[in-house]
Amino acid sequence: MDSKGNSEKKKDLTCVGKSVRRVDGWPKVLGKAKYTADHSFEGMLFAAVKRADFPHARIKSIDVEGAQLPGVEAIMLEEDIPGNPRFGALNPHQPVIISDIVRYLGDGIALVAAKSEKIAREAAKRIVVSYEELPGLFDPREARKSELSIHPEGNEIVHHVLRKGEVSEGFAAADVVLERDYQTQFQEHAYLEPEAAVAVPQPDGGITVYGSMQHPFSTRRVVARVLGLPLAKVRVIQGELGGGFGGKDESSSIVCARAALLALKTGKPVKLVNTREESFVESYKRHPYYLHYKVGAKKDGTLTAMEIEIVADGGAYASMSTFVTWRSVVQATGPYTVPNVKTDVYAYHTNNTYTGAFRGFGSPQIVYASESLMDELAAELKISPAEIRKKNFYQQGGETATGQTLKHVVSLEPALDAVLAELNKKPLEQNANPVFSRGRGFACSYRGVALGAEGVDATGAVVNLLEDGSAIVSTGVAENGQGLRTVFSQIVSEELGIPLEKIVFLDCDTSSIADGGPSVASRCTIMGGNAVRHACLQLKERLNLSEQPDLQKAIKATLNAGKSLYAFGWHNAPKVSWDEHTGQGDAYFTYVYACQGVEVEVNNQTGETKVLRAVAAHDVGMALNPQQVELQIYGGVTMGAGYGLTEEVILEKGVTKNPNFNGYHIPDSRMIGEIVPIIIENPDAAGPFGAKTIGEPTCELLAPAIANAILQATGARVRTIPATPARVLHAMQKEGAPA
Ligand code: MOS
Repeated sequence: MDSKGNSEKKKDLTCVGKSVRRVDGWPKVLGKAKYTADHSFEGMLFAAVKRADFPHARIKSIDVEGAQLPGVEAIMLEEDIPGNPRFGALNPHQPVIISDIVRYLGDGIALVAAKSEKIAREAAKRIVVSYEELPGLFDPREARKSELSIHPEGNEIVHHVLRKGEVSEGFAAADVVLERDYQTQFQEHAYLEPEAAVAVPQPDGGITVYGSMQHPFSTRRVVARVLGLPLAKVRVIQGELGGGFGGKDESSSIVCARAALLALKTGKPVKLVNTREESFVESYKRHPYYLHYKVGAKKDGTLTAMEIEIVADGGAYASMSTFVTWRSVVQATGPYTVPNVKTDVYAYHTNNTYTGAFRGFGSPQIVYASESLMDELAAELKISPAEIRKKNFYQQGGETATGQTLKHVVSLEPALDAVLAELNKKPLEQNANPVFSRGRGFACSYRGVALGAEGVDATGAVVNLLEDGSAIVSTGVAENGQGLRTVFSQIVSEELGIPLEKIVFLDCDTSSIADGGPSVASRCTIMGGNAVRHACLQLKERLNLSEQPDLQKAIKATLNAGKSLYAFGWHNAPKVSWDEHTGQGDAYFTYVYACQGVEVEVNNQTGETKVLRAVAAHDVGMALNPQQVELQIYGGVTMGAGYGLTEEVILEKGVTKNPNFNGYHIPDSRMIGEIVPIIIENPDAAGPFGAKTIGEPTCELLAPAIANAILQATGARVRTIPATPARVLHAMQKEGAPA
């Protein structure tokens, strides 16, 4: 599958493109890596939070008297906050703690610091809050119509539009028009390590915060704002991260800000660690979507029009809803050429847990719906699911729904062919036991790389080459467990010709490197990798490596000439554009393409579905470390299986009914058999060594592939995920009618 140029180029590489071992693997395997909760300081206090008792209520009074237990050193309410008590990247209306109106059950009302965690928690429990209960809104479709307003600015968070051509003409020209509704759920990130922070006051009145967060710079912004300190006096150091998956942004900033408030107030280090239940209730989830699709096609499968309306549940606070739903509006048609498109994506506030970034970021929902729809349309037209897709796939030189011309290699067809070839190596064999039915299905997607027209997309890296030929590397994007330290070290090794063992990668510390933007949007390899490369290229020039191939001699000569071997590289993403009134523009500077296929087995009596085999083909531009790409695929496919089959945070009138892993089921090896990763490489001019993206595309495809496979196995179409046993049985009873 390698393009020819790439295989030739790859031959010359010594470290990049190789499956080298993780540079940070040993400390983790040996239990020596320090996660946030492992940090301890002399005289450290422990914090606890008193949270809301109702999902929507006006606070009448807060009585802390009963909480003044021996060992309690501070109790803080909103009025004690020295800076601005509200934060938010787009709408700064989210409270760190609140004293007037609670809007969901995760809202904090009071903070306690005490000599032990036990005392802190007991004290928090004894804080008595009296409320006037307010009527709540728990369905975004209700919130859309309701007279009740959760925030003064109204319930609508955002409305994105996309207009291309004229849908009425497209539908008039169609031979078949199909309308379908799909629904998706709240999904929990389920990182192993719940949110944690340790805040340490500094002699100069500033604060250092060790925290479990994805984006140390966003956290710094929130902590400084809440404490009323200049950014420079807030130092945020990322601990080893026990998973994030998009979940450790606001959820982590709030925990860090609370610990910092108590530390500043008491003058002592303060540790705050959420329990699993607190994490479930407080941290944001993946947005549930209500999706209505109308599609028109010619008899031969050619698409003529799509009209899409999506309503997302934003929950209590705005968080990233505007950006998450923006990715949805860009990609909602799927990777298909449609001449006439009308898409509206709305997000509304409810009194549910708020929703935000989650691996995939507004794509798993629309990929589930649009890829289910393609199979439904193919069935209606009596053509194969592969044929209808191939007929309409985006092509190199073709135009997307947003009017962008795709100038790079568009590898949808190779990805689909690779998956079908692997899946169909063996014919589909039914289980001899008639209780079980097996079926196969697949789904395809395209995905904008990095932040796109969301905003500024730039990042930096420092490569500090030392006199003995070892190097210290740090970057403005942070290791989230995805393997960034390893891949960036490989780039340094490749460029400077030094072995990996001589490279030390620093933890992200906001006081020692420029703000490199968040570690999101699968942007780290492509953005940070380029920045690392720029730093190395500067060094190579100073070392005059083209004339002096002996690195040690070159280092000596450069230092003797009084030049530094400390280089800062900066990378600014290629230009993108967006017209918010028409939904037209070059939304992302490049895209990735993928296909995942699956064979499932459904128990016809219980409705339980297992994934026997999954095949995932992803074009990553170039695999800088093939094994790490495969690991991303294993993880993402598994996460996608959970999204499709078992994972759902159940909220009843704002109350989380399953706030732990005994009631919230992430998939395990009993549910998933073999996973076969297929790496496709078409080097992209925008990426370091041609590399693009892999983190998020891996988890957006399995749910629709499973839904399509369940249909083949049982004849029943499940239009609500997760496809739980009850939903599968229900759909089977209705024989293909909507679940
Ligand atoms: Mo991500 S969901 O872009 O952290």
